[in-house]
Amino acid sequence: MTRIPLIAGNWKMYKTSAEAAAYIEALRGLMTRTDRAVYLAVPFTALEAAAKSAQGSGIAIGAQNMHDQLEGAFTGEISAGMLKSSGASFVILGHSERRSHFLETDVFIHRKLKRSLSEGLQPILCIGELLEQREKGDHEVVLKAQLDEALQDLTAEQMKCVVIAYEPVWAIGTGKTATTEIAQSTHHCIRLWLEERFGKEVSLSVRLLYGGSVKPDNIGALMQEPDIDGVLVGGASLDPKNFAQIIHY
Ligand code: PGA
Repeated sequence: MTRIPLIAGNWKMYKTSAEAAAYIEALRGLMTRTDRAVYLAVPFTALEAAAKSAQGSGIAIGAQNMHDQLEGAFTGEISAGMLKSSGASFVILGHSERRSHFLETDVFIHRKLKRSLSEGLQPILCIGELLEQREKGDHEVVLKAQLDEALQDLTAEQMKCVVIAYEPVWAIGTGKTATTEIAQSTHHCIRLWLEERFGKEVSLSVRLLYGGSVKPDNIGALMQEPDIDGVLVGGASLDPKNFAQIIHY
């Protein structure tokens, strides 16, 4: 089964609408390959401008978070329907910065994930272990618990729509990429977990992204690994030239 490489940028809290439009125009001019899926997770306020600029380019525009309720008295929150009507086709859920700074739990992430699926937004579920958990050898238990909780009671068809991003917390924004061996062996564990839960066909169709200090000079080696189907890029996605180099690894 071919899993088309997925290169996703996560801009975090960077770029206004005007900056987003200028970036996408620049990126369009630099993109020469069509055999990659390119996703950009932009701030809420830049969604409409980004979606408009990306029209006809094949670049998918998405958000970095959402609330699980359809609507209601949740000051400062945003719903799946609002994201969709602003041009989002996917949403990142459970990013480690949401888990650590905003105390998001696996239970909440699970509710958001179910909502994103029912509202037709493709979820990118982020999971990852802390440095001390890796050092103690607890990483597999931690990751499986995150998967068990976030992906519980999904049907096989729903699971096929989900993208999983493995982002070791110690590698995010630190310049410390996981070695290709660590990334591959962890992705392999995730693949086996998927097979156990959802069967071989599903496990072979779900794309597993690696995230954490991905750069133009380390993407090539990561993408050689059999269970790494793409990357989720933070810092290095902010400059269209860098991001284009990553896309064209
Ligand atoms: P980074 O961030 O590439 O800057 O390490 C990755 C992420 O947080 O998704």
